[in-house]
Amino acid sequence: MDIDRRMLPYRGITPVAYLAGLVALILMLVWLLHYREGLEYDSDNPYRVFNVHPFLMLFGLVYIAGHAIMAYKMVPGSHNVQKFVHMLQNLVAICLGIIGICAVFKFHDMLKIEDMYSLHSWIGISTICLFCFQWVFGFVTFMFPRASTHTRVRARPWHAALGRALLYMAICAALTGLMEKATLLKQNNQASQRELHLVNFTGLSILLFGIFVDLSVA
Ligand code: HEM
Repeated sequence: MDIDRRMLPYRGITPVAYLAGLVALILMLVWLLHYREGLEYDSDNPYRVFNVHPFLMLFGLVYIAGHAIMAYKMVPGSHNVQKFVHMLQNLVAICLGIIGICAVFKFHDMLKIEDMYSLHSWIGISTICLFCFQWVFGFVTFMFPRASTHTRVRARPWHAALGRALLYMAICAALTGLMEKATLLKQNNQASQRELHLVNFTGLSILLFGIFVDLSVA
């Protein structure tokens, strides 16, 4: 049956997802570059090293991973092209996520802070581990060596459902991370009301991005 693509609901929703994602990224950069010390992985200033973490986690595991979810709707070309772009975007997301996690481990090393004490860090590490599992599972099943048609048909809804769950997990991690950092800054009187509002708006745009990505493929 032919479907008129203009009737599909995602047409109106996807641009909102794009916009929310872009706003979240810009707000995050304004926060880190204007209110905080900026970001640099190889710096002697531990806070510049730390700041690489929130940026790369948001850019990789939320923004790019969100775009990977929308690839089948938005990338022009055949199904195989869309599949390849989807796989590549998720690979880039994982690489950025791993560098982002290394940055926060390095920051903890520099300040002799213990690792993995918070709920945020537990949600975060579970997300990246599951993300890697999902990528390997997806690659082996749908790309190479590729499972039988029967297995692929059975696996597809599970793969899609876990992908959407992972986006929400990454968003949970990002929001708890922002909250943890903002609470710390507030307790130590290191942030103005303006800065805290900026962090809140960043969190809300991240959440909106996730919801609109989800709606656009629902
Ligand atoms: C997808 C998003 C994110 C993931 C998967 C993630 C993951 C992690 C992990 C695994 C740790 C533990 C590192 C260690 O114990 O040495 C951590 C630490 C931390 N993250 Fe994130 N993070 C994310 C986003 C963010 C964001 C947006 C912020 C905002 C500032 C943030 C703030 C922090 C802070 C303050 C710590 C150090 C304290 C702690 O271990 O809880 N994170 N993160």
